[in-house]
Amino acid sequence: MSSSQYSIDQLISAKSIAARVETLAKDITNYFLNTEKLIVVGLLRGSFVFIADLAREIDLPIEIDFLEASSYGNSTESSREVKILKDLAGEISGKDVLVVEDIVDTGHTLKHVLQLLNSRNPRRIEACALLDKPTRREVEIKSRWTGFEIPDEFVVGYGIDYAQMNRNLSYIGKVRFNKQ
Ligand code: IMP
Ligand code: MG
Repeated sequence: MSSSQYSIDQLISAKSIAARVETLAKDITNYFLNTEKLIVVGLLRGSFVFIADLAREIDLPIEIDFLEASSYGNSTESSREVKILKDLAGEISGKDVLVVEDIVDTGHTLKHVLQLLNSRNPRRIEACALLDKPTRREVEIKSRWTGFEIPDEFVVGYGIDYAQMNRNLSYIGKVRFNKQ
């Protein structure tokens, strides 16, 4: 789809995101305060900008790892079937783990990932999602930390894509599809 077929309206400014990320990182730091080491797991690819900012504000010894679960492909509809495309590089057994997600939408992705990682017996595991669309939920799942709750809109920017584009926007915008 060429960019003339949709436009992007700002929903959350870069400044608001930065302020919220700072607060989230403080809460996460307090929660895991006495950890030996926190494994921060980013879900690829949408969380890469968020995890970069969040990790730099977390005042704990941390390790970064990534996991890739299948997403929407190039459509705006969730497939509901979650596949692991790239697994973690490291072990998490007995460790403290923070899963960092861009958006919780239907909840299938986060639920599947948390179930999988829980089966590896981490010491503690919690999730932090930048965005949450609660009205879209199909399975019961809640991340311990959420940046912003948003309405049922398709969003892009700050790492989040539409058909792999617009990840480099510094703000979060909603996609407005132009009528043909
Ligand atoms: P869920 O499994 O339905 O919760 O979907 C979660 C994944 O769908 C997120 O990690 C995103 O990659 C993708 N997703 C959900 N909503 C949006 C959106 O508005 N824009 C871009 N990707 C989205
Ligand atoms: Mg994703």
